[in-house]
Amino acid sequence: MQLTIKMWGLSIIALALIVIAIAYAVAPSAASPESLSEHIGYMLRVTARVGFGALLLAYVARPLVLLIGWGRPLLIQRRYVGLAAAASLTVHFGYVAAFLITSGEPLDGVTGVFGGAAFALMWTMALTSTDAARRRLGAGWKRLHTIGIHYVWLIFMQTFVGVALESGSRWAEVMAALGLVALCIRLAAWLSQRFKRTA
Ligand code: HEM
Repeated sequence: MQLTIKMWGLSIIALALIVIAIAYAVAPSAASPESLSEHIGYMLRVTARVGFGALLLAYVARPLVLLIGWGRPLLIQRRYVGLAAAASLTVHFGYVAAFLITSGEPLDGVTGVFGGAAFALMWTMALTSTDAARRRLGAGWKRLHTIGIHYVWLIFMQTFVGVALESGSRWAEVMAALGLVALCIRLAAWLSQRFKRTA
């Protein structure tokens, strides 16, 4: 049973990486200096969207089961869905480095601190996503993962809303709308739990 869960979980991470690999194949060429910056911009957008998609699935997995009893398989695979988000964001990090090196644009302090903290939190969550780490960290584990997922959600949302307002990108609008729907699902589940406890 545990092995089947693990196999499915690893397939989820592989699927995210395959989507990114396909995007790499169809992206403007990285080999030619004329299209390199387009390649980097394209891959930054793809890795952000794949990462956010996976993050949202992990974000709503438990609330959906609590609210409507739907999505138990997603809840079982939540750890791997989160790892798929971390993998995608790690590729985003690689492209951020490529962007900074090739464009010569300076990294502004606010983006560096808040974006850097999102990468650090995502990787800390990925590294502590084992049963052993969960036992070792006790109550701190839940705090780390609850604060971490909300913080990374916030950085994604702030970026998508900014892009949507600046460029009118339909993709950014859709991703921001999905992020808001996911937040509403979390809030509804939280409120329903609170009312159940006080009823
Ligand atoms: C030092 C940190 C970071 C830098 C310098 C950076 C840089 C960039 C750049 C240059 C783009 C491409 C803009 C374009 O060409 O349209 C981008 C897109 C994006 N990044 Fe990052 N990034 C950073 C960290 C992060 C983090 C931590 C997240 C999320 C947690 C994130 C989420 C996004 C999103 C949502 C997009 C827009 C995708 C779209 O247009 O659909 N970034 N980033």
